[in-house]
Amino acid sequence: MKKLSTVFVFILLLKITNLMAQDHKAKILVLIHSDNGGTYELAKEIASGIENSNNATAVIKQVKESQNPKLKNIPVASVEELPSYDGIAFGSPVYFGNISTGMSEFLSKTVNLWTNHALEGMPATVFMSAGSGAGKELALNAFWNTLAVHGMVLVSNGIRGTENINKTIPQGNTVLGVTSMASLKDVERPTKDERELAVLQGKNFAKTALALKGTFTSKQTAVSGIEKSEDINTILKQKNIVLPKVPLPAGNYKPYVRSGNLVFINQVALKDGKILNPGKLGVEVNEQQVKEATKATMLNVIAVLKEAVNGDLNKVKQCVQLTGIFNTKDDYTKHADLMNTASDLVVEILGEKGKHARATLGASSIPVNSSVEIQAIFEVE
Ligand SMILES: Cc1cc2nc3c(=O)[nH]c(=O)nc-3n(C[C@H](O)[C@H](O)[C@H](O)COP(=O)(O)O)c2cc1C
Repeated sequence: MKKLSTVFVFILLLKITNLMAQDHKAKILVLIHSDNGGTYELAKEIASGIENSNNATAVIKQVKESQNPKLKNIPVASVEELPSYDGIAFGSPVYFGNISTGMSEFLSKTVNLWTNHALEGMPATVFMSAGSGAGKELALNAFWNTLAVHGMVLVSNGIRGTENINKTIPQGNTVLGVTSMASLKDVERPTKDERELAVLQGKNFAKTALALKGTFTSKQTAVSGIEKSEDINTILKQKNIVLPKVPLPAGNYKPYVRSGNLVFINQVALKDGKILNPGKLGVEVNEQQVKEATKATMLNVIAVLKEAVNGDLNKVKQCVQLTGIFNTKDDYTKHADLMNTASDLVVEILGEKGKHARATLGASSIPVNSSVEIQAIFEVE
């Protein structure tokens, strides 16, 4: 028994020592956007360089979900978590001598971090996957521009490791950060040397991050000043809400029109190419069936809205107004009850941003014998 408790105390001490050691390590995020996996290949080398010294831990995350089998299991980072790290290594494909659209979109959501000085003084380093390599240094520089606005400490690579690389082929070494030239097919990319340069960049970055750990903005203060916004795509997934395909227009009109920052959408209860529960309430359909049709109609509205914001529902600022029109008999009065199905759904998905002004009314008939039509106005970024 005594022996057993000694072993238990020993294991406990080992665990505590391990936890304390973890706390002393620099916690580094390797944050990437990648279309074809080239940036991810570099990211893995950067991460292994970071962890090489045993003084830092690295976690690779991406800025948005990917369907690419090589990338789909990489976790997606939230904007709000960025201040919780001791350093961030940013990686992106080169797009027209610039950072990629995916990375740019993610960074454009960091305005709250910027105004709260949440990343100020935190070390950052950058790396990129290019095609031919045209404009790669311009692109790295563009990365730096954004991070400099955040007040991050930009850790360059200098001419680290270049003395040992094979100089008979083009290599992605630059003083700002490592790159790879994926479309040069003479050798596999990233080359062995580019991978080695990425490891060196990771090692050097970890050293700086460890040295600066704890010297910049109090993370808690910074984070608490930021209004947390939940990712709408994650909410849809968590709630098992599947958006339908955008219904095609049945006449000379568009599924939506954007005027300034307002998007106008009108939909009926089309589901899988047919009207769900068609007819007049109290004659062909009952209230429960109209509620089902109302939910299908609202899902159509949100599917169209998603198209209007180029697939990113996080760009919706507010559901401004919903108007629900129901095919009812003259003496029907409970339109509000029916419409709550649509209102509840939009609030479930968009939270506070889903709260709207509302009108409901009855009609003697609705196009294509739908039991409901919804008109919606949204404000978007
Ligand atoms: C819109 C677009 C613009 C691009 N512009 C450049 C460029 O200016 N220079 C370059 O070398 N490669 C360019 N490329 C190629 C990508 O940088 C290259 O395919 C990269 O390896 C992709 O990285 P990934 O494998 O992580 O997706 C461009 C690709 C796209 C889609």
